[in-house]
Parts: sequence; structure tokens; C-alpha cells
Amino acid sequence: MNIADALCQDLKNKTAKVAVLGLGYVGLPFAVVFAEAGFQVTGIDPDARKVNSLNRGESYVQDVPQERLARLVKSGFLKATTDYSVLKEMQAVSICVPTPLSKAGDPDLSFIVSAADSLAEYMHSGLVIVLESTTFPGTTRDLILPKLAKEQFEVGKDFFLAFSPERVDPGRTDWTTKNTPKVIGGITPACLEVSKTWYSQAIDTVVPVSSAEVAEMAKLLENTFRMINIGMVNELAMICDRLNVDVWDVIDAAATKPFGFMKFLPGPGLGGHCIPVDPLYLSWKMRSLNYTARFIDLASEINMTMPYFVVNKVQDAMNEIGLPLKDHHILILGAAYKPDVDDLRESKALDVIGLLRRKGAFVEYNDPYIPHIAHEDWALDSIKNLSEALQKADCVVIITNHSAYDYQEILQTSRLIVDTRNAIGEPGRGNPKVVRL
Ligand SMILES: NC(=O)c1ccc[n+]([C@@H]2O[C@H](COP(=O)([O-])OP(=O)(O)OC[C@H]3O[C@@H](n4cnc5c(N)ncnc54)[C@H](O)[C@@H]3O)[C@@H](O)[C@H]2O)c1
Repeated sequence: MNIADALCQDLKNKTAKVAVLGLGYVGLPFAVVFAEAGFQVTGIDPDARKVNSLNRGESYVQDVPQERLARLVKSGFLKATTDYSVLKEMQAVSICVPTPLSKAGDPDLSFIVSAADSLAEYMHSGLVIVLESTTFPGTTRDLILPKLAKEQFEVGKDFFLAFSPERVDPGRTDWTTKNTPKVIGGITPACLEVSKTWYSQAIDTVVPVSSAEVAEMAKLLENTFRMINIGMVNELAMICDRLNVDVWDVIDAAATKPFGFMKFLPGPGLGGHCIPVDPLYLSWKMRSLNYTARFIDLASEINMTMPYFVVNKVQDAMNEIGLPLKDHHILILGAAYKPDVDDLRESKALDVIGLLRRKGAFVEYNDPYIPHIAHEDWALDSIKNLSEALQKADCVVIITNHSAYDYQEILQTSRLIVDTRNAIGEPGRGNPKVVRL
């Protein structure tokens, strides 16, 4: 039996040992899904706090319920380590490491490089490796493959390499790691076959595509599509503001069209690890090929101006009631980048708070999911007594519409509200103390 067939048999029998490199928002749910499918899964992460927490059966990712994790750890299907030498025994490895931007706004591939270096150190035949981290087309073939393919290890024969973009939407319960269709593209046809065999054991729908590059680019299409449409609707909010037309009414009206229109909503700018970051991987790659990805650059520019637009709204609204921003109390509601998650990455609440502080306002915030923020040059604790803070605030700014908020109370208690999410809905419409984007 050749190496591919033997590995496929172990994958089908679920006797193949699985490792997940990177136990964050993506890696932990992924490890849980494969452990629940019956694989022995080992998570590897340099962060000892995550490793220890997992080994105690304590979940630190909101999407992974405590009892589910504890059950898998107790039954021995899931464990974690900081020791990469366990890779020697593994037959299937998924790479779920971060792909952030550097300070200069360029792709930071250092985590992928270090994961690939660890794999190279413990390389052996009969191994399937799938990269999950979002990145530009060519990363799997041009960056990872040369580190792993050695004279004795031929890709597609001795080991198998593929890319499969993670599509998880944290906080979502209808579409999860298990039931969201999973696109996968191999470096060779055998790579696709083996990786598809592995993923099919635990994921409901696996979608094979013609190459790793197609899979890499598909993820960037998905996220660029969202980024550009959000940029477009954010610009529409600024256009409507100049025209004195209610943008939310416009969107509701357009959304009654049963075909050819998809609803996107304006807001304080893009947040989260993916949408504001991933398209910039593509535009960076294109710059290296002397091509300017104009839609991405334009949408990015518009989205980045939104915190300034929000702060102008706050300033104008306060001006209307005769108050300057300086020395007055502003309460920010919601700091996470989207409702009901504890993720602060790229949240535009940080920009809005920073800009208001620079203008001399006393800024406080409340977020049931984010107890403390330590930003570059300031740190704040989430206000605990919300009713008291609402009464004290000269202006309340709704940045994130967490479902825990009681908008009736917020509406009744506050003096002035800038609602960037249309969170208050109908009662806010036409209410003199509510200003919407
Ligand atoms: N969070 C999301 O909603 C989401 C959704 C889809 C795709 N993604 C993509 O998935 C990837 C991972 O994102 P995330 O949100 O899970 O990041 P994360 O920061 O939550 O987790 C990444 C983990 O990798 C670990 N790590 C760093 N270097 C490592 C190494 N060399 N070996 C092993 N572990 C290492 C870190 O300690 C961390 O625990 C990124 O490329 C991201 O763009 C994220």
C-alpha cells in the first residue's frame, strides 16, 4: 500500500494522530470538532496559559462550551502542550496561527513561518498538513512547501499539503466549524485527496477546489466582498448625512427588493481579526506585482474615516445642546468589535475612545464581555453600575449593540445618545435626544 492510501486508511479509521498548531479562536473549536469525531487530538501552542487551561478542561473561547471541552479532556481525546517534539508522532496537522498586520500595515507572516519551521524540524513521511490561517495566494506553495519538501520528502508522495480557509464567525451558533462548508485545495491531486479524506471525517461538507491558491483566494474574495460593501454603505452614510436623508430608512427601503440587493449596514468602522485585515494581505501582494487593488484601498480608506465621522457626530450633537466635548462625560456602550463576543481586536471603539479623549472628554465605557481595556496610551475598566453611568453621561455613544443591553432603559435614562448601530430602532426614530449615523 502506498503512503497516501495507508494514511487515508488511518484517517478513515480515526486512528491517525491529529495536531492543531495554534489554540485560539479558530484552533480550539477546530480541535474540539475533530476530538468529538473520535480523533486523538493534541493542541500545540507557545502560550502556556492556554495550554494549561485546556488541560484543566477550562474553555477560554466563548464558542467552546465548558462542558464540551471538559468531557473531551477527561476522556483523553483532547490535550495540549507547548512541546513541538510531539509532532514526530503526528499524522495530520492543522495550522491555525495568527496572520496579523505589522505596525507598518504589511502582512506579518512570522507565525506561519515559525509553525512551518517547527514542522520542518520534526518532518516525517505519512503526514498531512493543512494551513487554515488566512493569507494571500501562494503562501502554502511558496512559503510552507519549500520548508518541508526535502530530498527524502516529496510532496504528494511522502507527505501531503493543502490549504483550507477557516470561515468561523465567532458568537454564531447556526453556522459552526462543523457545519460550515469547508473549501480545500491541495498542492497536488494526492494532497487534495488525503486532506479531503481527513476533513470529511469531522466536517459535514467538504468542498474540494482545483488548487491551494484557489482556496486561499476564495477566502480573500469572501472577506474583501464584505469589506468593500461595508465601505460602500459607510460612504452612503456620509453622503446621506450631507443630504440630510436618513441612511437607515434608505437601506430598509432598498432591502425590500427581493432580488439583486444585499443588505449591509454602516457603523463606526471595521473590526475583528478578519475583515479589516485580510483584504490588505491581498493588496500588499498585488503591490509586489505592480498592481494596485483599488477597490480594497478605497474601501479601507473610507472605513478608516468612520471613527472620525462618529466623533464629529458626537461633537455636533453636544453642540446642539450647548456642551463642548472638553471636560464632559461620554459613555461608550460596547467595546467588542461586534455583538455578544469578547473580541476587541481592531475594534473601532478603541479609535473612538482615543479621539474623544484627545479632545478633552472624560470617557468611560461599558461592555459586559470586556472588563478591561489596556490600549497604547490609556487603560480603562468597564463601568459596573450602568444605570448610574447613564445618568452621569452628557452623551452616550452606542458602538456595539450587545443583546444584553436594555435599550428602553438607555433611552429613558440618557440625556443624549449617538447611536452608530441603529440599536434603539423604532423608539429612536424622530426622538430628539437620539442621533443616528
Ligand atoms: N477569529 C476569527 O474569527 C477567524 C475567522 C476566520 C479565520 N481566521 C484566521 O485564522 C487564523 C487564526 O486566528 P485566531 O483568531 O484563531 O487567532 P488567535 O490569536 O486567537 O490564535 C492563534 C493562536 O496561535 C498561537 N501561535 C502563535 N504562533 C504559534 C506557533 N508557531 N505554533 C503554534 N501556535 C502558535 C497563539 O499563541 C494563539 O493562541 C488567522 O489567520 C485568522 O485570520 C480567524
